[in-house]
Amino acid sequence: MSEQRFFRFLQERIGLDVESVGAPMVERALQQRRVAVNAQDLHDYWLCLQQSADEQQALIEAVIVPETWFFRYRESFTALVGLAHKRLAELAGERPLRLLSLPCSTGEEPYSLAMALLDSGMNPAAFRIDGIDISPNSVAKGVQAVYGRNSFRGVDLAFRERHFHALAEGHELNERVRAQVNLAVGNVLDPALGSRDGYYDFVFCRNLLIYFDVATQQRVFEVLKRLTHEHGVLFIGPAEGSLLARLGMRPLGIAQSFAYVRQPLDAPAQPRLIPPAPLAPSRPVPAPAPISRPLRSVPVAPPAVVQRESESELLALIARQANAGEGTQARANCQRYLQQFEPKAQVYYWLGLLSDTEGDARQAQTHYRKALYLEPQHPEALLHLAMLLAAQGDEAGARRLHERAARAGRGAER
Ligand SMILES: C[S@@+](CC[C@H](N)C(=O)[O-])C[C@H]1O[C@@H](n2cnc3c(N)ncnc32)[C@H](O)[C@@H]1O
Repeated sequence: MSEQRFFRFLQERIGLDVESVGAPMVERALQQRRVAVNAQDLHDYWLCLQQSADEQQALIEAVIVPETWFFRYRESFTALVGLAHKRLAELAGERPLRLLSLPCSTGEEPYSLAMALLDSGMNPAAFRIDGIDISPNSVAKGVQAVYGRNSFRGVDLAFRERHFHALAEGHELNERVRAQVNLAVGNVLDPALGSRDGYYDFVFCRNLLIYFDVATQQRVFEVLKRLTHEHGVLFIGPAEGSLLARLGMRPLGIAQSFAYVRQPLDAPAQPRLIPPAPLAPSRPVPAPAPISRPLRSVPVAPPAVVQRESESELLALIARQANAGEGTQARANCQRYLQQFEPKAQVYYWLGLLSDTEGDARQAQTHYRKALYLEPQHPEALLHLAMLLAAQGDEAGARRLHERAARAGRGAER
């Protein structure tokens, strides 16, 4: 019971919904801090917390989840590059592009933005990136810009050769990238952020909202929407689409990038998938099978390897079509896939996303549920379904799914 006031403190100060990270995790952090300041019990520690701004910050440091890495959700960086070049052309030299990464944690996300834009040939003078995070420790590490193994995940690490040099304690980021980024300590709940109304062309806010309750998410979305220029794009984590739709934002329809724009006042009621600007893919996309290819002509008992190739070709085709905003074809190919191969969670997830994007929440929900039946921890299906439930007022259901997704995410990240 005596812990409730600490939970309230964290909720008010940083928006943390204790249930989303689990009470035991916060309780451990409280005990750790109590011992560190030699408080006899939690009551003693509460008094200490009230009197010391430093201790308040130390408790916040103990509960935050700083997990991040370079080029997390790679597709969103590919999408950004295409959109950024287009926006720069629209600005016609009026000013540089402005990007924001909030929360930026230890800097991997804003620095990835800088590397992606520099690698695309963009002039360094043409863009500036701000990174903001509530944790002074994380921001200090970001400024230092020396990274260990955990910051480099996945198979394509060519960017490390281009932009880092090796030191005994890790890889240090080159000055050319660092010069593009300004890191600072700040709180997404701080009303002072309102003074940057419409300032940013691109706002990245990923893996923060999953730790907030629905009311705080809504409040933060209002802030993010205000920070984003009327012709700008907001990138979020793989969730919260429905809430954004209710706030007058619509998905850009670039698969796996979770990018949203402001809905023009005269826009049609049904949002549609729109084709993105041509992108320079950061890794080669497998050549898709031509649409007209008669996949049904596969022999009745094909050798396993032939069947696997056809299957992966069809999946690549679906991904490509969704990326290009060709929702109708992508949907038809999902159905074709389900007729020919074993049901797959990812395909039901795609169908859910396509229905979601077209505003058919009921159908989207059915598809997400099927995806979760096949793969109970499918992270995107969990989060998208949670948002649909939240939008329908089923906050308890949404919370349960968020918790499951947070647990799945932490498991995967570990
Ligand atoms: C999991 S990291 C996400 C980093 C990066 N955006 C990513 O997706 O990889 C979450 C970060 O949110 C920060 N954070 C938590 N509450 C915050 C708040 N109220 N305002 C700003 N940052 C916050 C934490 O310090 C932590 O670094």
